[in-house]
Amino acid sequence: MGNRNGKATKSEYTSPDQPARFAEHKRTNNVRVLDIDKVYDPSSLKGKRVLVTGANRGIGLSLATELVAVGAKVIGTCRTTSKELDALGVDQIIEGIDVTDNDVATKLVAALKPTGPVDVLINNAGYFMVEVETVESMNFEEEMKMIDICAVGPLRISAAVVNAGLLTPNAKIAMITSQGGSISWREVQNPDGCDYGHHMSKAAANMGGKLLAQELKSKGITVTMLHPGFNKTDMTKKYEHIWEVEGAVDASIGAKRVVQEIGLMNIENTGKFINCEDGLEIPW
Ligand SMILES: NC(=O)c1ccc[n+]([C@@H]2O[C@H](COP(=O)([O-])OP(=O)(O)OC[C@H]3O[C@@H](n4cnc5c(N)ncnc54)[C@H](OP(=O)(O)O)[C@@H]3O)[C@@H](O)[C@H]2O)c1
Repeated sequence: MGNRNGKATKSEYTSPDQPARFAEHKRTNNVRVLDIDKVYDPSSLKGKRVLVTGANRGIGLSLATELVAVGAKVIGTCRTTSKELDALGVDQIIEGIDVTDNDVATKLVAALKPTGPVDVLINNAGYFMVEVETVESMNFEEEMKMIDICAVGPLRISAAVVNAGLLTPNAKIAMITSQGGSISWREVQNPDGCDYGHHMSKAAANMGGKLLAQELKSKGITVTMLHPGFNKTDMTKKYEHIWEVEGAVDASIGAKRVVQEIGLMNIENTGKFINCEDGLEIPW
């Protein structure tokens, strides 16, 4: 079992109990969690071409902002751009990229080919329905939508760039999944079940990413599943009441945590599932 530096060590897992985890991080003054700036090293991203899906708002917009700030050449894809993304000064904005479109490769490849291959692909676009799903209130249409966007979407985008030869040698694919996709953690995080479609979609995204990691290893491409931590975005607005107890951060901090972990990705540690809050592994 290798760690994030590719050294042979035993896996170290993060804790599933989010409020207790956050309290412990404060008690022990864990700077990796509480003050990413103290350990932050984005230097390997400088000058790299990085494609971010869902770059128009939320964590995707913050990732694009942070990557521009550290000197990366950013390609932001979105369904529709935003004034915030327009104002960033990214290298390229590709609109009309809906990750549920089976023909998305045609549009994406046509726009990317003239500008060249990317060093890092960040599959960030995602969707979490607002209502809580219980066995009484299951919404099968929404379940399929979440699975389509969060699990199949990253495969459509990844396959598009791989098959068109639009990844550089030793490229990285970061799959922004979620701790919600960890089956092992459901007993602690969902003692009463719920959120079927969303958590299924992220478990499926983890599986898709793991299989991609296996298949692309021989090409030197690293694939890592990243839980971006708890971020204050439109998606988690419904959890606003627990933001402070559970350590939710502004997406600008979440973006730095993600960039930090992308910097640590290498072929020796491909296929891992990492919590960007503390840099530790999450069990499947
Ligand atoms: N926030 C958190 O605490 C948290 C925790 C764990 C994991 N995550 C994951 O982090 C990622 C970003 O989350 P967020 O909090 O930034 O969410 P968000 O604020 O809701 O933003 C979601 C992004 O995904 C895009 N998107 C949705 N459906 C799409 C589609 N069919 N095709 C293309 N783009 C689509 C949205 O674009 P539109 O504007 O066009 O809808 C938007 O850019 C997601 O994968 C999410 O599951 C977030």
